Amino acid sequence: TWTPANIIEEQVAEIRSRVGDKEVICGLSGGVDSAVAAALVHKAVGDQLTCVFVDHGLLRAGEAEQVEKDYVAATGIKLKVVDAQDRFLGELAGVTDPEQKRKIIGREFIRVFEAAAREVAAAGDVEFLVQGTLYPDVVESGGGTGTANIKSHHNVGGLPDDLQFSLIEPLRTLFKDEVRALGIELGLPEAMVWRQPFPGPGLAIRIIGAVDRERLDLLRAADLIARQELTAAGLDRDVWQFPVVLLADVRSVGVQGDGRTYGHPVVLRPVSSEDAMTADWSRLPYDLLARISTRITNEVAEVNRVVLDVTSKPPGTIEWE
Ligand code: XMP
Repeated sequence: TWTPANIIEEQVAEIRSRVGDKEVICGLSGGVDSAVAAALVHKAVGDQLTCVFVDHGLLRAGEAEQVEKDYVAATGIKLKVVDAQDRFLGELAGVTDPEQKRKIIGREFIRVFEAAAREVAAAGDVEFLVQGTLYPDVVESGGGTGTANIKSHHNVGGLPDDLQFSLIEPLRTLFKDEVRALGIELGLPEAMVWRQPFPGPGLAIRIIGAVDRERLDLLRAADLIARQELTAAGLDRDVWQFPVVLLADVRSVGVQGDGRTYGHPVVLRPVSSEDAMTADWSRLPYDLLARISTRITNEVAEVNRVVLDVTSKPPGTIEWE
């Protein structure tokens, strides 16, 4: 019978016998898949596993800390953190085209991960790379790896020939809800296990316009308020994803405090979906929307307008870029 405990036991035995006394490396993204995959492998081989977290500075408020502190505390995993924020922001400076942003982030991610992997490999006999591939990813990419699906830059398929590893993909037969059940069983932080799907390029594709630190901080503040209020309303699990989008190149006139302001609008984009292929805009309660709007315009001074996206997918995509 399928129980999280059974799956864990089975995977742990298999991973242990496959890895033997070799070393293993795993990239953490902040998402649930890589977190659960790594925790499973850690349970099997302990400190033979080194995790690498590339902090590109494009995550939401508190998410980097969640990986660096809560996750490490919960699992005891050996973690190498690479602070690559300046590098990513430098490469992204002035870039407004969405595909260009994706390309830059994908490319830099591979480069930074590669350098980190070389350091880990220099210290030990690393033979394996853990990936949090799920069953739907396997199907989507035709059973292979590294095809050009939207998640391509998440899969470190772009590593050079002299840095190739055998893959360990302990979640290959599982669906998202099963992975979450495993995560709970493994004692991972709730906030991580129930995290909404989040795009690899992160907040960079939720800033319409060029990305910089100030805009990221604005968006993080607005996004945090939306998430807090959704959670307080008990609606986390009714919403598939809740992008908050900063229209950084648009200005709107407002009255805040003592006078007129010329600030930026943010867009609330809560959607319900089964698989992200199609989606509908979530009919969130008006009083919840009102609380989010009031708090954002009160607490995030540069934002003077909050709008709701009422477009289904298709024709609109979930993300604005
Ligand atoms: P769209 O916006 O196309 O998004 O409706 C569908 C799902 O994919 C996510 N998404 C991405 N995920 N890299 C990713 O890893 C990307 O470049 C990317 N673009 C969109 C989006 O958040 C949604 O879950």
